[in-house]
Amino acid sequence: MNVGIITISDRASRGLYDDLGGPALKKAAEDYGWKVQVELLVPDEKKVIQRGIREQINHGCQLILTTGGTGVALRDVTPEAVREIAIRELPGFGEIMRMESMKITKNAILSRGLAVVVDRTLVVCLPGKPSGAVECLAFVKEAIPHCIEVLQEVPTSC
Ligand code: MTE
Repeated sequence: MNVGIITISDRASRGLYDDLGGPALKKAAEDYGWKVQVELLVPDEKKVIQRGIREQINHGCQLILTTGGTGVALRDVTPEAVREIAIRELPGFGEIMRMESMKITKNAILSRGLAVVVDRTLVVCLPGKPSGAVECLAFVKEAIPHCIEVLQEVPTSC
């Protein structure tokens, strides 16, 4: 599975702190046996986020993992950015991420993490905190390979 990773953070993109979320997600994806092809760091700007997703799709990514911009701060616009270019949302991803994360931190209720389909690519938007992003990916990872197969129209048994 070809994977793209996008870190969405004003401060990391300005170099005010290191991007820890992208590398943490890369390691998690590789531990699952997925191939990370491209990585990107962008500010919390809707158009820039959308352009980054399009670039990674054109690069052949079947799965894009984003980290950041899912919270309640006024600059957090990841859900709005991805919904604008999505053909559909997959609500189960956000539901499970919040339900399972609530067992770890009550602040998870503030998370607007979600998954959408853009063209034939699954885009999963995870929290900005590196440990939170890796935890949320773990909660939904089992459903991802089948979802990609269906989107890519690979024959499947179910
Ligand atoms: N989910 C998990 N599993 N673990 C976490 O530590 N942090 C939460 C939440 N989801 C967290 C989590 C916090 S503190 C916030 S504010 C929201 O995700 C939104 O995060 P973001 O604005 O960094 O994207």
